[in-house]
Amino acid sequence: MEKQLIEWFEWFHKNPELSYEEYNTTAKIREILTQAGLEILPFELETGLVAVIRGKGPGLVSALRCDIDALPIVEETELSYASCHEGKMHACGHDFHITAGLGCALLLNERKEELAGTVKIIFQPAEESSLGALKILETPVMEDVEEIWGIHADPTNEAGVLGIREGSVSAAVDRFVVTVKGNSCHGAHPDDGVDPIPVAAAIVQAFQTIVTRNINAFHPGLISVTRMEAGNTWNVIPESAVLEGTVRTMDRKDRVLVEKRMKEIAENTAKAYGAEAEVKWIPGPPAVFNDALMVEKSIQTAHECGFDVVPEEASMGGDDFSFYEERIPGCYIKIGTGKGQLIHQPGFQVNEKVIWPTVKFLTKLLNC
Ligand code: NI
Repeated sequence: MEKQLIEWFEWFHKNPELSYEEYNTTAKIREILTQAGLEILPFELETGLVAVIRGKGPGLVSALRCDIDALPIVEETELSYASCHEGKMHACGHDFHITAGLGCALLLNERKEELAGTVKIIFQPAEESSLGALKILETPVMEDVEEIWGIHADPTNEAGVLGIREGSVSAAVDRFVVTVKGNSCHGAHPDDGVDPIPVAAAIVQAFQTIVTRNINAFHPGLISVTRMEAGNTWNVIPESAVLEGTVRTMDRKDRVLVEKRMKEIAENTAKAYGAEAEVKWIPGPPAVFNDALMVEKSIQTAHECGFDVVPEEASMGGDDFSFYEERIPGCYIKIGTGKGQLIHQPGFQVNEKVIWPTVKFLTKLLNC
């Protein structure tokens, strides 16, 4: 099966599709699973699908989440199986996740006589949009699931090394847009209006005090203003200014606090300057949190399968895996894919040697 898995991995790498457009990817996954006689749950999903393996005996219902989408990046590897679609690339290793999920589904299906419980393999669309998990959660697929596992390619570790960590793994990902409304006037007569630009600048500065003055110093958190826009010429004071950016927090209470403080600071700073500000808060996925018992089980299984385990590096990045964890315990494991360019970079690549050991590890982990 190992050779077959590598062939499939190369096919997926060659044929990347962006979030919500994973039609050919889904068709290929369906074809492979159907040929192997696996049951695919009849949910109506535009892209993505869920396979189920029902064991002989009673037991836990567990799930493995494999995301399937690629990124809008021009590939710069020398691989013989590099992307055939200019400007699209599996630069986050989701081609590896698909292949590992397929291998795991096929192996569990072969062994289902010995399997106690049920395993669902979720091939999830649009992880890169931060919201693809919600598509899966619109279906009843998770209703009976009691625990969920997630994996991610990790180019900061060698093949054969797993990163596993208890507790917070990645941050809640929220977005904000602040609109400052002033009063436009001639650039030579600022006294005739209300200039929104110094107001926006004061708000940007004051936002940073939320992290340093309001959040517990032992709690990770950050606010990045990533876009500032105002005006369109040199001698007119504009009517308004817009700030946009992202907030990352690990702690649920901090997340609420930051939103509240940002609104207070923006609205009251603007008021002090005679302007008005409105904060639009666009919530994304919450923080990913690894369950202690699942962590223990995964470390033990990793050692049994010959992997080295290192503490997983926490990240201020996010993953919509956390939406599943709002209801049930979960564990998100980083799989060392060989040291090299980081994820979301044009030279990122996965060492194919990790595919087969990962499949064996996941099969053992899910075969409870
Ligand atoms: Ni990813």
